[in-house]
Amino acid sequence: MIANQEFVTRRTELLAQMDNNAVAVIPAAVELTRSRDTEYPFRQDSDFFYLTGFKEPDAVLVLCKDKDGTPQQTLFCRNKDKLAEIWHGRRMGHEKAKTALELDQTFPLSELDEELLNLVNGRKALYYGQGTYTAFDDKIWALLGTLRGAPKKGYRAPEIIKDVRPLLHEMRLFKSDAEIAVMRKAGEISADAHKRAMQFAKPGATEFQLEAEIHHHYAMNGARHPAYGTIVGSGNNANILHYTDNCDELTDGDLILIDSGCELEGYAADITRTFPVNGRFSAPQKAVYELVLASQQAAFEQVKPGGTLVKANEAAMRVMTEGLIELGILAGEVDELLDKQACKAFYMHGLGHWLGLDVHDVGEYKLDEADRPFEPGMVLTIEPGLYFDEDAEVPEQFKGIGVRIEDDLLITADGFENLTAGVPKTIAEIEALMRSGE
Ligand code: GLY
Ligand code: MN
Ligand code: MN
Repeated sequence: MIANQEFVTRRTELLAQMDNNAVAVIPAAVELTRSRDTEYPFRQDSDFFYLTGFKEPDAVLVLCKDKDGTPQQTLFCRNKDKLAEIWHGRRMGHEKAKTALELDQTFPLSELDEELLNLVNGRKALYYGQGTYTAFDDKIWALLGTLRGAPKKGYRAPEIIKDVRPLLHEMRLFKSDAEIAVMRKAGEISADAHKRAMQFAKPGATEFQLEAEIHHHYAMNGARHPAYGTIVGSGNNANILHYTDNCDELTDGDLILIDSGCELEGYAADITRTFPVNGRFSAPQKAVYELVLASQQAAFEQVKPGGTLVKANEAAMRVMTEGLIELGILAGEVDELLDKQACKAFYMHGLGHWLGLDVHDVGEYKLDEADRPFEPGMVLTIEPGLYFDEDAEVPEQFKGIGVRIEDDLLITADGFENLTAGVPKTIAEIEALMRSGE
């Protein structure tokens, strides 16, 4: 659980980085219609949530910093409305939000246009992240137009418009102790769900039944939603990188690739495991699996302060390339094949990504054009894979095999902590667990 004080501290830190005489405007997410009178499950905007912990749609956070550096924190949130609350759910209301979230002032949403104009008027700079909520973008551009159009009324628009996201996303890249505790828990719940899927799998079950087992486990452990669309790809479906149809029956002799993680208190886990439907790897499946696992292990050795994702990927690709030559899938000299990135024909995605409130989390991957070194507090995935589609030009025995292995690593002072180590990964461990489910 992230304490309210942490959200207050984050707002204070963002304000400290803003110019004097500036204002930042950060909107919440909006509800999206799914079909007549029904909406998609609401998910708060990650930047807004990071600064407030507030879960209602349509709110707006406004952080002002005066010429002398004095900060002021304002929230606009939905008006209390008896009828709307009977139909759709309770609203906190601006009065309660002021104390609950420890803000300087709050207003009902109905006063947004008038009060936002006052808060932005006369500031030198506006910090705003355009392009996510187009209706809100339009509101901001209209407000700036109003301020530019009436100098005689004392209106003056900010001369400088800055993107607030680089400041915010740099903060989000480094996880606090409280965030790490939540992500550790998300990793544990997700790892246990993968174990459950391994024990449940058998020929004749469907991909979506495995998905249901996993989602049930998430919910029963306090994580109502997955962090992204769960991927359960059996057989050749494993070769579709973001396969989410999950509609096929599991066939004896096939592998299943499951890529799933829960969302806990807003934070994502992201795990992939690949295992045999019948609990026993065939010889070619074993060969590919061992190669992906060795690639992941080689990458892990680069995951420490000072290492980079690029170096980790180079290590993974070297092991992969050597192995693909041994399996008769690539032919040639290792360094030449690496120069040509020949293994990329079967490893089409990156090695990993930052992880946090978003599964593909925010944060720069380069600093001043150079690859960004890992630092303690960053969390990332390491997820090499090899995919041999049924149509791929590879020896017959490898066609239709797709393997990815993905874990979530927290960078520590001297290396990393694997937040998702709880789910079996070696062939012996996986086969033993699947036998125990019989
Ligand atoms: N689950 C999406 C990914 O692994 O990046
Ligand atoms: Mn994944
Ligand atoms: Mn991932």
